[in-house]
Parts: sequence; structure tokens; C-alpha cells
Amino acid sequence: MVQEVVWTVSIVLMGVLAALFAWVAVGANTALADYGPMVASAYRARTWLFGLAIIVLIGVNYDTLGKLPYVSSLSVTSSGAAIQPVDAVAEQWAWTISPNTFTVGQTAEFHVSSKDVNHGFALYDPDMRIVAQVQAMPGYVNVLRYTFTRPGTYRVLCLEYCGVAHHEMNADIRVAAH
Ligand code: CUA
Repeated sequence: MVQEVVWTVSIVLMGVLAALFAWVAVGANTALADYGPMVASAYRARTWLFGLAIIVLIGVNYDTLGKLPYVSSLSVTSSGAAIQPVDAVAEQWAWTISPNTFTVGQTAEFHVSSKDVNHGFALYDPDMRIVAQVQAMPGYVNVLRYTFTRPGTYRVLCLEYCGVAHHEMNADIRVAAH
């Protein structure tokens, strides 16, 4: 809902900006007769190029803005694949993640919360490079989507100091090849 408002406002503002540029461009053309024919044709070429740039700009914005919001309430990805909801609940000092097995290409939507204090949900790929992260907070459900790109064991670590056994808060997520 909010995203639709933002989208509409963006489109309107871009339209106003384009109209403003067009108005300035048209105004500039009326003075062209004061210059020689070479200058006039150079200015005409520039106007055409500018028009082309505007069309490309509108096209690119139309295509990419339509993909907003990046995390939406839709239950499928833009390619139509089903999104797997996943509960990820933190507590001192463990993660409960269900389900925790996926296949490459599958998109998981983690619903991250906490039973006690603040924790940090951090997802690491099989090379232990962090690929996604969100806070795990009591009383809130933070939504995080991630599409698994590689087979192997991903890990979830806690990124927020949460007590003496903070370092033991880790869990495995297994991702199978197709
Ligand atoms: Cu949970 Cu640190």
C-alpha cells in the first residue's frame, strides 16, 4: 500500500521533471536562428539525443520500479516460484529454525523473532561469507528473504552480544543441489 503511494509519487515527480526539461529545451530552440546552420544542426542533434535519453530513462524506471517492493507480501517470487516461509526464533542461547533444509534456487522468507532478549540473525554461505542479516527482537517479527544460490551448509550465527553463551548461538541450514 505504502509502496504503491511511493511508486505513484515517483512517477508523477519524474513526469514533472521531464516536462520541465522539455519546456526548457523548447524555449532554447527559439533562439537557434541567431546562430549559424552548423550550430543549429548540432543543437538539433543534441535535442534528439536528449529525447532518446529521456525515453530510455522512463523505460528503465518503468521496468525497475515495477519490481518494488523488494520484500513484498506476495507469496511467489517475480519468476512465479513459491516462497518458503521459515520460522527463525532466537533464545538464550540457541536458534530454532524450521524448516532448515532447502534446495538451490529456493527462496526462503525468514520470520525472525526472539523469546527473550535482542539477538542478531546473520546468514552465512558455505564459505562463511555473510549474505543476509536482520535483528531478532522480542515482540517483533522481522522478515528477511533470501534465495539460496549454492549447495552446501549455510550457517546462522548471532551478531548481537546476548549473554555468556552468545558465541554458541549457531545453527546449520542445509541446501541441496537441484
Ligand atoms: Cu544471541 Cu548473541
